[in-house]
Amino acid sequence: MLRTAIRLLKRAQSIAEELETPDIIKRVQRGRLTYLDRSALGWLAEHVKAVEREQVPGVLLETGCALGGSSIVIASSKNRERRFQVYDVFGQIPPPSDKDGADVHARYAVISSGKSKGIDGDRYYGYESDVLGKVRSNFRELGVDPEQNRVEFVQGLYENSLHPSGPIAFAHIDCDWYDSVTVCLERIVPLLAPGGRMVIDDYFSYSGCRTAIWDYFRHQLDHYKFVYGPRLMITSISAVPQPQATPAKGQPQAV
Ligand SMILES: C[S@@+](CC[C@H](N)C(=O)[O-])C[C@H]1O[C@@H](n2cnc3c(N)ncnc32)[C@H](O)[C@@H]1O
Repeated sequence: MLRTAIRLLKRAQSIAEELETPDIIKRVQRGRLTYLDRSALGWLAEHVKAVEREQVPGVLLETGCALGGSSIVIASSKNRERRFQVYDVFGQIPPPSDKDGADVHARYAVISSGKSKGIDGDRYYGYESDVLGKVRSNFRELGVDPEQNRVEFVQGLYENSLHPSGPIAFAHIDCDWYDSVTVCLERIVPLLAPGGRMVIDDYFSYSGCRTAIWDYFRHQLDHYKFVYGPRLMITSISAVPQPQATPAKGQPQAV
């Protein structure tokens, strides 16, 4: 009797979740275009909508696109006229470093051996010859035309390609390893607008990402709010004081 009631309750919960899930999330998942689960995609959509509601100034960006699933959810949650920049090597992920733990190196060993499986048994996207072409056609198939929605793709390793300018309203950092996450933090966080939000995808799943977050934020915790949900969300709550340049000898000092 109790078991039947629990089963019915669970069934009702899953029907309610299904009904509440935005259509675009269901379509991205059905198309096997993302590594994120439903709650993580919902969390992304919710925070993009929040920066739109709060009119936080600046661009939206994502570092780590793979097949484009999370990018499509972000693009369809934002206002059409807001710029959205998507950064990725659009090929095979670069190797981790000695700052990453054994979990990361084990995952990379499978990828580099050529034996990684893709989502639900598909071919692993990193072995495809034209990942960017595939991402563009995934956007179009789901009815989100990149040009009409001000989505820009920037191809290359972040070390070379990631040079955002101006304020950033929202960033989705989903690039797995220590060095990749660190370069993103170094170039994105100083430009985060007050009230701007950053979702970190791999904080709960990869050791190098966790270390990168704390190596970067440990001395400036007062300026950010950390929210733990389906993923880690970091909000900028005040401007971080920038180091003062030392005046050259003989130069008048402000008093
Ligand atoms: C887990 S996937 C992104 C998943 C995607 N957001 C989704 O919805 O499934 C991580 C991506 O980060 C990219 N990446 C990691 N480090 C990079 C780097 N240093 N430069 C450029 N791209 C990088 C990889 O190419 C890969 O496509």
